[in-house]
Amino acid sequence: MRKLLKHPSQIVTVDTHGKNYKRGNELEEINTLFNHSILIENGIIKDILPNSSAEKITVDKVIDAKDYLVLPGLIECHTHAAYSGSRANEFLMRLKGATYEKIAEAGGGITSTMKAVRNSSFDELVKLLKPRIDYFISQGVTVLEIKSGYGLSFYDEIKLLQVVNYFKTHSSIEIIPTFLGAHTYPPEYKNDHKQYLELIVNELLPYIIKNKLANHIDAFCEKTAFSSDEVDKIFTRAKKLGYKLRLHSEQFNNVGGLEVALKHKALSVDHLEVISEEDVPKLSKSKTVAVLLPGVSFFLDYDYAPARKLIKNNAIVALSTDYNPGSSHIPNIHLIMQLAALKLKMSVEEIISAVTINAAKAVDMNECAGSLEIGKQADFAVFEAKEYSEIIYNIGVNLNKYTIKKGEIIYQKMEK
Ligand code: NIG
Ligand code: FE
Repeated sequence: MRKLLKHPSQIVTVDTHGKNYKRGNELEEINTLFNHSILIENGIIKDILPNSSAEKITVDKVIDAKDYLVLPGLIECHTHAAYSGSRANEFLMRLKGATYEKIAEAGGGITSTMKAVRNSSFDELVKLLKPRIDYFISQGVTVLEIKSGYGLSFYDEIKLLQVVNYFKTHSSIEIIPTFLGAHTYPPEYKNDHKQYLELIVNELLPYIIKNKLANHIDAFCEKTAFSSDEVDKIFTRAKKLGYKLRLHSEQFNNVGGLEVALKHKALSVDHLEVISEEDVPKLSKSKTVAVLLPGVSFFLDYDYAPARKLIKNNAIVALSTDYNPGSSHIPNIHLIMQLAALKLKMSVEEIISAVTINAAKAVDMNECAGSLEIGKQADFAVFEAKEYSEIIYNIGVNLNKYTIKKGEIIYQKMEK
């Protein structure tokens, strides 16, 4: 099946010349083409050619993109979208001055969502997750990562991963499940960390990979969660079993997470609001992606990660919503792009690289997605805009017109 995505006003390829990520200054180079069309063959980009040549070829189907802007499908690389319950009460407490950490210490936070998830059936969780995935798709997202981490028992972590896995075959985009059993210590292991670690290392890690429920694991390295030594133990075992690693690190305190992540060559370190001056060059020299989450800083009203310093030092910077019920109840990746401009002082070009190719690298999908290069998947976000700056300028407005996955239109905005 050959298709032609015909006559868009602009194509932003985010070309990497086969390198498949961008660091430092390279984030600025997004490569904009005018008067070009995209030839798709069996869901793969076959060619990107001038309109004059495109006119001459025969195809089975034409997708008319006239006057629209084409970007690689957006990659949402860090979410906790599989949850039940609401933390609106905690949000109100914070508006009155309580802090996120204090609420968590008092038994709220992750533990309160854990209780809701343990009380929810597989079917209930599926029903809640479906519209959240659809909302990401409506924004042009074509790859979506979703973590567990609200079950925190053998049964409930597996249940949550099964819910996420259900959408691998019941949604039109690629879903990447990540095992986050090391999110926090559940109340029953509060005074017995050793036992919970054993449950993760000896039971959950082997079971999950054997049953193909996840290839990626994540952990939360923080004073109130897992120490760097504990993360080291989990990562050592996980790596032996063949997992790829991610880490929530340097969110509120620097407790050595980054060092462990770099030691184990993690795919990404996420958060970094409080990364130290000395650690910036260390991270920037590695191939580990710095996933920045400005929605968390906005939602919790605290420090933003030093994006400019990271880019200046040559880091591979990505962006994500961190969509979750407690610290970033923001499922809108366009708003995150806008916050990155206003608060992280990233340029529009850097932001586009950060939500496409670099986010793809954070989920190990950068060889087949994240940029428009011949041989990659025909995944596109098609915007009703002439210029890509419109996506940032129109705060809170969804300009996405079509979401295209492997050459198929999977979402189309209703005509006005
Ligand atoms: O990425 N930092 C830890 N985990 C999530 C928050 C989860 C929650 O509050 O429910 C985060 O911010
Ligand atoms: Fe997170």
